[in-house]
Amino acid sequence: MLSMASLRRLGLSALAAAASLSSLASADVSVRSLESRQTAADKLVFAHFMIGIVGDRTSASDYDSDFQLAKSVGIDAFALNIGTDSYTDQQLEYAYTSAANNGMKVFISFDFNWWSTGDAAGVGAKVKQFAGHPAQLQVDGRPFVSSFAGDGLDANAMKAASGVNPYFVPNFHPGQSSTDGIDGAFSWQAWDTNGNNKAPTPGANVTVAQGDASYKSWLGGKTYMAPVSPWFSTHYGPEVLYSKNFVFPSGPLWYNRWQEILTGGFNFVEIITWNDIGESHYVGPLSSKHGDDGGSKWANDMDHSGWLTLAKPFIAAFKNGDTDVSKYIEDEHVIYWYRRNLKSLNCDATDTTFNAPANNASGNYFEGIPNGWQTMDDDVYVVTLLKSSASLSATSGGNSRSFNVPAGATLNTVPAGLGKQSFAVSRNGQNVLSGTSLMDITDVCNCGIYNFNAFVGELPAGPRDVLGPDGLTSLTVGLHVTTCLPQPSLGTNPSVPASQPATPTSAKPSKTSSAAPSDPTNCNGGTVAPGESGNFTGLCSFACSYGYCPVGPCVCTSFGQAPAPPAGDGRDGCPIAGEPSSYSGLCSFTCSHGYCPEGACQYC
Ligand SMILES: *[C@@H]1O[C@H](CO)[C@@H](O)[C@H](O)[C@H]1NC(C)=O
Ligand SMILES: *[C@@H]1O[C@H](CO)[C@@H](O)[C@H](O)[C@H]1NC(C)=O
Ligand SMILES: *[C@@H]1O[C@H](CO)[C@@H](O)[C@H](O)[C@H]1NC(C)=O
Repeated sequence: MLSMASLRRLGLSALAAAASLSSLASADVSVRSLESRQTAADKLVFAHFMIGIVGDRTSASDYDSDFQLAKSVGIDAFALNIGTDSYTDQQLEYAYTSAANNGMKVFISFDFNWWSTGDAAGVGAKVKQFAGHPAQLQVDGRPFVSSFAGDGLDANAMKAASGVNPYFVPNFHPGQSSTDGIDGAFSWQAWDTNGNNKAPTPGANVTVAQGDASYKSWLGGKTYMAPVSPWFSTHYGPEVLYSKNFVFPSGPLWYNRWQEILTGGFNFVEIITWNDIGESHYVGPLSSKHGDDGGSKWANDMDHSGWLTLAKPFIAAFKNGDTDVSKYIEDEHVIYWYRRNLKSLNCDATDTTFNAPANNASGNYFEGIPNGWQTMDDDVYVVTLLKSSASLSATSGGNSRSFNVPAGATLNTVPAGLGKQSFAVSRNGQNVLSGTSLMDITDVCNCGIYNFNAFVGELPAGPRDVLGPDGLTSLTVGLHVTTCLPQPSLGTNPSVPASQPATPTSAKPSKTSSAAPSDPTNCNGGTVAPGESGNFTGLCSFACSYGYCPVGPCVCTSFGQAPAPPAGDGRDGCPIAGEPSSYSGLCSFTCSHGYCPEGACQYC
């Protein structure tokens, strides 16, 4: 490593020298090797991957991009969740093969919604079938196996049937199973609940941390695998007999839980999930090839990729048993997320997906707004990953806040407001990162339904990430509006061109070379979205051509580096009386840049 003195001799300014030194320092932090953590049965990081929605994959290479991305953020292995679908074995073969090709590890996670707890022999046989594969995760020299649910399975009988002495860490529950025969256990309690699989109430509130404590005390010294999840919201109708329409309080969970993971003394952590689109807790890309079980209605355009950017330094810190994430931050980022509507929005008139008569004997049938909606806060969450202190400004519609933010990982919140969502980090008066989200917060019931999923954005902007055709096949099924098309409408949010030269750190690509602010997939042209009022046409063509192409009213049709918008005189714009708030972001953008068409917008 170069010393400060030698950098000075190279003629660099003190500021640049300090920045270079700190990036050298973070790149130099070595993270414990996979082998040493496997041997110690400690500090491994997994992501739960649903095989059930990837029955459309046709080769091992269909798994490559998932494994490469997961590996790049430090995930050690995928927990391959399997049911008993006809394509399960074929998909396991593809996944094990791709994992081996990409230097990743995998293991089977039996889903006991489908597997029978009485079938220890069948489970053991499936373990044996894949245990010898080179990509099989070994822990303490034994093939690793996990589950979703499974209380009642005879663990010793399963192990005997497998003949391979697996390291078994199932999702058994304290008080419902013995720890005899298992090597550890995995808690699925990644969200605060009421103890009965619904959102908590003040009188019935079982927190994630209480789940950790009860598992650790039940397990004695055996391996504890802790859950970490960013979100939970789901809105199914007849697909599941109207029984799956609820949320768990999610808000700042992804940030807060990672902080807990660093201090919790857990052996392993498993991210819930990589690709469960339907429950909105996916952290993998929308573009990852998969089918559509109905979840596209609330996942289309709802990119979550920024959550992986947030997790990356926490994963590295966890592997080293370090409680301080700061020195694992290699590049500076802003990650922000929010819901696209405020919770006061009433979509009852068009959210009739759930109006069909259903038997409510289970007490799980909820019509319209998801059960537990009150536990979601109307906030915009903004996490900064910084190498030195800076100023953050965040604007959500009419609400603006400024913060002095220290080096490291920091969460700030802004009350959510209708309209544009903009974020900027500056240091010593110089712009470091700035940008406007393509997802406005509106009072429009997109697709006519309640949508409590999160939209996640990041600066520098990540690559464009959209659902593929297979992931959109059920989007319009059962909808009561015709304005919702089975196609993505969100481009990648381009960073607003910096008025000052960017620092060396912010100019670095975030995840891949295509993730730089000059990413050619950024929007630089668009028009009114199909089905939207023609009144948006002029606003959309103007705004999209300058890189602001809000999903909903507009659709991006051309991608590339957008030119900087005209300066305008800085006056803000508002929709004219009687126009919907879905115009507010557009009017604000176009008027402040000198285009304020009568009949749609006015200066406010
Ligand atoms: C549940 O308890 C946690 C921890 O005290 C608290 O943060 C949360 O607000 C509570 N939730 C409800 C719905 O009362
Ligand atoms: C179904 O039963 C539950 C529990 O009693 C209740 O909270 C819910 O509102 C009922 N759903 C409908 C649509 O009536
Ligand atoms: C479009 O603009 C016209 C003229 O200002 C107005 O009468 C009409 O209500 C607008 N339509 C919508 C959907 O806002």
